[in-house]
This record gives sequence, C-alpha cells and structure tokens, in this order.
Amino acid sequence: MARVLVTRKINPLAAEKLAGHDVWTWSENRTMPRALLLDRVGKADGALVMLTDRIDDEFLGFGADLRVVSQMAVGVDNVDLAACTRRGIPVGHTPDVLTETTADMAWALLGAAARRIPEGRDYVLGGHWGEWDPDLLLGNDLWGTTLGIVGMGRIGAAVARRARGFSMKVLYNSRTPKPDVEEEAGAVYAGLDDLLVQADHVVITAAYTSLTHHLINSAALDRMKPTATLVNIARGPLVDPQALYQALRSERIWAAALDVTEPEPIPADHPLLTLPNCLVIPHLGSASHGTRLAMATRAVENLLAGLDKRRVPWCANPDVYHP
Ligand code: DGY
Repeated sequence: MARVLVTRKINPLAAEKLAGHDVWTWSENRTMPRALLLDRVGKADGALVMLTDRIDDEFLGFGADLRVVSQMAVGVDNVDLAACTRRGIPVGHTPDVLTETTADMAWALLGAAARRIPEGRDYVLGGHWGEWDPDLLLGNDLWGTTLGIVGMGRIGAAVARRARGFSMKVLYNSRTPKPDVEEEAGAVYAGLDDLLVQADHVVITAAYTSLTHHLINSAALDRMKPTATLVNIARGPLVDPQALYQALRSERIWAAALDVTEPEPIPADHPLLTLPNCLVIPHLGSASHGTRLAMATRAVENLLAGLDKRRVPWCANPDVYHP
C-alpha cells in the first residue's frame, strides 16, 4: 500500500481507482496552503497535484520518498521538470483528453468577444432593450476572415480544424512548421510578426516558458489590426496585461477574451475588468463534466504507473527514463 497525496478533490469515479492505497486528499475548495503541502508531501510516495501547486526543488526536497508526481492538467509550467528529472521522478500530465473541449472554448470566447455577446447580455439585463436598432452593438465577422493561431500543438490544431466551418483562412506560428496540420486543416505557417499583421483574429495556444513570457507585448499588439480580437486560452503570462489594457482602452485592437490571466486569479479591481471590450473567464478551457473526469482518470493512471514503477503513460519529462 502506497501513501498518496491528492491536493484537490477529484471526480469520485477516478478517485475510487486509488482504493487499496493510503490516500490523503485536501478537501477544501482552495489551493493547499504551501506549508501543509510541504508537510504532506513528506509523508507521500506519490502526489496527484493541480496546476496551482508549485512543484519545485523545495517541494521535491520535502518529498524524500516521492516516486511520481501526477498533474491533472496538460500544461506543466508550474512544475520544475528538470528538477524532477534530476531526482528520477517522472511527471505525469493529461494531454489529448482536453484538446477538443479547450478548442471549443477558444471558439466560444472568440465568437463572444468579436460579436459582443457579453455587452449584449448586459444591455438586456440593464433594461435598455427598447426596440431593434440597426446600429446596435455591431461586431466583427468571424466567417471568411483570417485566423492567426500562435502555438501549434494539439489544441492549436483542434482550433485550426474548426476554422474550416467558418470558411476561414488559417495562419499559424510555432517553433517548427507542422506539415500534418497544414495538410489536415489547410493552415499556413507564418512568422509571428506577419501573422499578427495579417490575422483578423488571433488565438494563443502556445506553451508558457521563459521564452514565451509576454510574447504578446505592446509591440506585438501594435501590429494587430484595429478590428482584431485576441483570445488567450493557454497561460496568462503569455500576454503583457498592462500592454493589453492600453491596446484595448485606446482601441488599437478590437477586443480580447481571456480564459487565463496574469496574475491568476485576476483581482476584481484589475483595470482590464473595467473595459467593455475585454471578456475574462476563470480558466475554464477544459471545464466540462466529461473532460474533467477524463483528466482525473488519466492523472490517476499516471500516478498508479509511477507508484508501481511502471512507465508513466503520459509523461511530461520522458528524459527521466533515459538519463
Ligand atoms: C491545462 O490542462 O493545462 C489547462 O490549463 C487546464 O485544463
């Protein structure tokens, strides 16, 4: 029987697969306080963690008996992968199962911001809807325009596939060209600057690393069209929030829709939240019932493999197996 730390309640259908182990779950509806996290990892052979937990050298130092870290997310920017690898600890994550759900959310955000759905809702709820007005809350089209996708991993490819239904041309930028996506979705590789200049709408799906910190800064926003909508479905710090605020406020770009922010959570008095052309939702990209169950199940499978010293099936640091 292994000792397992679970840092947030997970779907019971997934949690029940841990029966037979000595499981300690943080059951409050907030991130585990750091001191408790460090104390608890000191008593664990495996840890199932969330993207809000910082998995760094300090955490690993306390987890002297740790055999595996399993994160219930695909993004692992909160995990020091190199430190885990140095200590021989595989890190599980949950790719694939959330791809389509997250791509759906990118499109929901894009449509909402470009077509001013939140403003329309506020208008109705505010009792302003008197009669039909030909000039009321005009937005910008999606259909027939050019979509720019920044970052072309699994989620970027799923966003690109959906663009066909809107008869859109797709440009993408990523570290390396992706011939399979070019073939499947008709996407065309472009340098980031060209993409920003040409795209009518931009969706960010890139991974967050030190190299992509504030990738979308003031200079990048300056290149975008004044009618362009920016969607961030990846990680908040890919976008410089001050620069975005200025660009939206001065209407240098049309609108932004953010599933993720810097900082996260965004404070309720943050300037971005005062802007009618900025839609912010609380990191809900993968938040469907089915997908969160699939993520929890995959995280448990990764954890169990690591505890049994089997190869972690969805491993974010495969180098750990080839030192
Ligand atoms: C992830 O998995 O990285 C998302 O941000 C949460 O679904």
